[in-house]
Amino acid sequence: MWKTTTVIFVLAIGIALLFRTGPKDVPDLPETFWGPERNKEASKEIRPFSIAVPKSVIDDLNERLKNRRELVEPLEDAAWTYGMSTTYLKDVLEYWSTKYNWSERQALLNKYPQYMTNIQGLDIHFYRVKPDVSRTKLKVFPLLIIHGWPGSVVEFQKIIPLLTTPRPDKDFVFEVIAPSLPGYGFSQAAVRQGLAPPQIAVIFKNLMLRLGYDKFYVQGGDWGSAIVTHISAFFPDNVLGCHSNMCMGVMKSSMPWRMIGALVPSLVVESEYANRMYPLGYHMSRIIEETGYMHIQASKPDTIGAAVAASPVALAVYILEKFSTWTNPEYRFRADGGLLEKYTLDELLDNIMLYWITNSFTTSARLYAEQFTKAHMGSGIDELPVDVPVACAVFPYELAYQPKNLLRDKFTNLIQFNHLPRGGHFAAFEEPVLLADDIFDFVSTVENIRKKNNAKNMPNAEKKIKEPTKI
Ligand SMILES: *[C@@H]1O[C@H](CO)[C@@H](O)[C@H](O)[C@H]1NC(C)=O
Repeated sequence: MWKTTTVIFVLAIGIALLFRTGPKDVPDLPETFWGPERNKEASKEIRPFSIAVPKSVIDDLNERLKNRRELVEPLEDAAWTYGMSTTYLKDVLEYWSTKYNWSERQALLNKYPQYMTNIQGLDIHFYRVKPDVSRTKLKVFPLLIIHGWPGSVVEFQKIIPLLTTPRPDKDFVFEVIAPSLPGYGFSQAAVRQGLAPPQIAVIFKNLMLRLGYDKFYVQGGDWGSAIVTHISAFFPDNVLGCHSNMCMGVMKSSMPWRMIGALVPSLVVESEYANRMYPLGYHMSRIIEETGYMHIQASKPDTIGAAVAASPVALAVYILEKFSTWTNPEYRFRADGGLLEKYTLDELLDNIMLYWITNSFTTSARLYAEQFTKAHMGSGIDELPVDVPVACAVFPYELAYQPKNLLRDKFTNLIQFNHLPRGGHFAAFEEPVLLADDIFDFVSTVENIRKKNNAKNMPNAEKKIKEPTKI
């Protein structure tokens, strides 16, 4: 036994050394035109936007909800372990068609100012919410905050005011810019192949430049995390700091260490958090159970897209299931899927409505296909190091745990790494206060280090923050 262990151990270390990645150059990032030909004439102006869904669309939705087919009963005692319980789904559909009031919800979604602007051929929708600093001396930092799948800007409704309201103990506050991903909600979808997260990073950097900001903070989870990581890697001169609630270091160099950790966890992860990674078997099976959707969306997005987008029932069941098990894996054993522990049915349906009224499910699913192309996976882009200051907010029920030591290969300037007490994958939506506090703390730290460096007259203080970290 010990012999085998030693052999695996030595081999793994050998492989780890072999895969060590050297410095890489930022790849060529062309400003591709992604839209239809007619958008060649589109102006560069920033147009105010508000959601105004025609009554006919809502009537048509209600008609479909009313004329739905009988649902197949779930198995006895299965709860949500075979997927979303159709017993519970029936209640949701009933609520949607009789109690959910779109005109009220639309008014709420229009509460914060929204805009549309054409970038690289695509109309990009975004919230832009400025703080009121008229009677203060507060600094205002632009914060680009990016959602993922199967979410939308609906996820940010509760955190926006927390970020744009001044705090007594902070000398800064944020202006929030929250765009819809291309092909999601009200942002137009590409008409040609290849719009993967790195290309979205280029579009959103251009959005910030168009708004007049060449220095800003970025925040994201899910795809949003991948995109803000790319923006930080490609455009370090523009990014003051990068906050992620789903830090992923997909470095080849870290793979063997994960194996080594299965034998000696303490070499890879602090003992307190070892159970978030090991035993590998338990965590691998959770990942397999939760990522079937990813395989199909990465390989046949238009097939699953047509199926899911065909009916509001299909769309709701496919999306709602994720808001149960990604919020907490234990919720699948409950008859109600724990759905209302962290969310209201209204806000869950708001998110589904954005996919329904814009018919954007298929284009949202295609992002997986673009990410998993050979061209993308072979590009080495995901291995580019990020040198700007980074914070990782680690929520306990996130799908995969990345230990700090392995993330340092990717994030060379990781200055904050907090384990939050509650929450899962949809941090902004579930735990807006915890996430907002974590963002404020991070930006405080970055700004204090910057001030100190400036005081010491350090060259490049703007770019490199190499303070010994407090982690
Ligand atoms: C929906 O809300 C609006 C605005 O509050 C109200 O005027 C309308 O009567 C409501 N509709 C239904 C069906 O309750």
